[in-house]
Amino acid sequence: MTVLENTYTADNIFKTDKKRVLSGIQPTGILHIGNYIGAISVWVQKQHEFNNLFMIANLHALTIPEAVKADVLRHNSRMVAALYVACGIDPDSAVIFLQSDVPGHAYLSWILGCCTPMGWLERMTQFKTKSEQAESVSSGLFTYPALQAADILIYKANFVPVGEDQSQHVEITRDIAQRFNHLFGECFPLPQGLYREAGARVMGLDDPTAKMSKSVAETRKGHAISLLDEPSVIKKAIMSAVTDPGSEVRFEHASPGVKNLLVLYEVLSGESRPAIEEKFAGKGYGFLKRELLDQVVRTLEPIQKRYREITEDERYLDDLLANGAAKARAIADQTVAEVRRLTGV
Ligand code: TYM
Repeated sequence: MTVLENTYTADNIFKTDKKRVLSGIQPTGILHIGNYIGAISVWVQKQHEFNNLFMIANLHALTIPEAVKADVLRHNSRMVAALYVACGIDPDSAVIFLQSDVPGHAYLSWILGCCTPMGWLERMTQFKTKSEQAESVSSGLFTYPALQAADILIYKANFVPVGEDQSQHVEITRDIAQRFNHLFGECFPLPQGLYREAGARVMGLDDPTAKMSKSVAETRKGHAISLLDEPSVIKKAIMSAVTDPGSEVRFEHASPGVKNLLVLYEVLSGESRPAIEEKFAGKGYGFLKRELLDQVVRTLEPIQKRYREITEDERYLDDLLANGAAKARAIADQTVAEVRRLTGV
C-alpha cells in the first residue's frame, strides 16, 4: 500500500454520506477489557452505521510527561492501532491515525482554548483527580479538554462513542463548540456521546469501587484484564476478584464486585439478565467466576491471534497509519481553513 496523500480530499475519504464518528484512546498502557467494552466494542458494533475516525491520542499521553518514555510511547501507540484492527475495526473503511500526525489538532486546540473559560476547565473531575495524584501538574493537563474538543470538532463529528468516564469531556466539547459558533459564526455541529447501557463503566477487579484503569493496571496485578493477557493471568485476576461474603447471584442489590462480574458476563455473553440469573441461581460466586473466565478467554483468543498477525508485519501498520494520517489531514485541513477564515487569523 502506498500513501495517496495528494489524491485524498475532504470529500472523497468516505464512500457514502453518513453521520460521522470520532473516538480515541490514550496509548498510556496495554488496553484492558474496560476499554474494549466501554469503547472499542461499540465502535465495532456500530461501524457500518457511521463514517468513522479512530485516533490514537498520543499527544494527550504527554499531559503527564513524568510517566512518558519515548520508546514505550512509540510502541504503545502502534499497539493501540493494531488492537483497533484486531478487535474488529475494518481498516479499509475506518480512518485509523495518530493524533500527532495531524498538526491541525494542536492548532485548533489553541484556538478553542482561547474560547474556553478557565472556570469550565477547573470543574473537570478528571483534572481534579489526576492533579491530586500527580507530583506536579502541567498546564497541558489543565487544557486537556480543549485538545479533546479539537480532536472531535476538527472532523465535525456527530457522535463520540466512549465510556461513561468521558461524558464530561463530551459535554465540555459541546459547550466549547457552542461558544466558538457564538463568537465567530456557525462552524461546528454539537457532538453527542454514545454510551453502552451496560458496561459503560467497568470497575477494577481488585477494587470494584474504582473504575478499571490502564495506569493502575501497570502497578497492580489483579486490577484489570488486559486484552493481551494469557489465560492463566486472566484466571488469577478473575478468581481473586473482590466479591462479598454472600452467595446470591442477582443483578439487583448485588454488591459492587458481584455486579461488575455480572455485567462483564452479560456484555460478553450477550445473554439476558433473567437468563443469567436463572443460570447462576444457587451456584455461588465460584461458578460465576469460572463461567466469566470462559467468556473472557473466548472473546480475547481471536483478538490476540489477529494482533500477533498484524504486529508480525511492521509494514502493514506503517502503511495503515500513514494512510490514516493522510486521510485525516485532508479533512482536518479543510476545517482549519474554515476556522482561519472565521477568526481572521
Ligand atoms: P482513555 O484512554 O482513558 O480510555 C479509552 C476509552 O475507554 C473507555 N474506558 C472505559 N470504559 C468502560 N470502563 C472502564 N473502566 C473504562 N476505562 C476507559 C473510555 O471512556 C474511553 O472511551 N480522553 C480520552 C482519549 C481521547 C478521546 C478524544 C476520546 C482523546 N481525545 C476524543 C474520544 C474523543 C481518554 O483518556 O480515554
